[in-house]
Amino acid sequence: MSTRSLSEILRPELARLTAYQVEDRPHRVKLDANESPYPLPAPVQAAVQEALGRVPANRYPDPAGRALKRQLAAMVGVPPEQILLGNGSDELIQMILMAVARPGAAVLVPVPTFSMYAVTGQALGLTCVEVPPGDGFTLDRDAFLRRLAEARPVVTFIASPNNPTGNCYDPDVIRAALAAAPGLVVLDEAYADFSGKTFLPELPAHLHLLILRTLSKVGLAGLRVGYLVADEAVLAELEKVRLPYNLNALSQAAATAVLKHRDLLRQQVRQIVAERERVAAALRTLRGLTVFPSEANFLLVRTARPAREVFRGLLDRGILVRDFDDARYLRDCLRITVGTPEENDALLAALRGILG
Ligand SMILES: Cc1ncc(COP(=O)(O)O)c(C=O)c1O
Repeated sequence: MSTRSLSEILRPELARLTAYQVEDRPHRVKLDANESPYPLPAPVQAAVQEALGRVPANRYPDPAGRALKRQLAAMVGVPPEQILLGNGSDELIQMILMAVARPGAAVLVPVPTFSMYAVTGQALGLTCVEVPPGDGFTLDRDAFLRRLAEARPVVTFIASPNNPTGNCYDPDVIRAALAAAPGLVVLDEAYADFSGKTFLPELPAHLHLLILRTLSKVGLAGLRVGYLVADEAVLAELEKVRLPYNLNALSQAAATAVLKHRDLLRQQVRQIVAERERVAAALRTLRGLTVFPSEANFLLVRTARPAREVFRGLLDRGILVRDFDDARYLRDCLRITVGTPEENDALLAALRGILG
């Protein structure tokens, strides 16, 4: 028998997808990935090291991640049964989509937004239906409700604060979507630590609401710990598509140790928010730059000059930001993660030099 070509073997959806790209050009200031710029405070680092030293590497991790779930449950104020752990929230997005994927089913996403909802949905054969933004990247209530009624999505993803625009959506529009949605609604609160706004108190009122959270933005991106807070019955179904040991023992131990000191992480969050306001105000004084309001740990800016030129100018000065110029609705837009005060000063000085 002759061997089939790769294109005959692979799912046709893959031909339309591109692999996630990470910028690897040399830089000294990294403001491209919405990470925390701060290392763990010394007492937390010591606690992590001590916890890691006790991990038996010859044994599989706790498949249910019970100790970590208890910490997270205490933090968000729900029972541990209402928490599902993921290898980053990316994996939880994948698990949700795996659970709903069936031929002809649709995923609804207000755009522009985090790319993995559409990428993973398409990879699983789902149709991705977009809702274009209202003015100022708001959720356009009428357009949203119309698309919900037309597409009848099995799942809708709403990120608030949204990435890469930084704004929170009007909670009343989110409530209208929750009332109208025929399927699951995933409210992605990856950046909620920086906005201080959450739908967690409204969870009991909506059985089909799933709140997605992550520890990546508050200083633990390297650990890959995401968690989903939702109704127990929904999570019991998602458990069926979870790989048994999805969260490795080192990440479980380190995150559990860190969460015992979560007040110290909150201090870092407050510093980042204060810096966001300082940087936004300073950027607004620069000519040739529009700064969009942000409640996250990054700022979206639109440049009057081609964004690619500004991006390259920053990289020439050792500063890496994220270029969104190619993305729809984001012409000439750059996303700048809030760094340490020194990193932010370097960014501002570089931009002053570039924009003149
Ligand atoms: C809105 C949103 N959701 C989810 C993620 C994924 O985060 P992680 O997989 O690190 O938890 C990101 C990462 O940038 C994001 O911006």
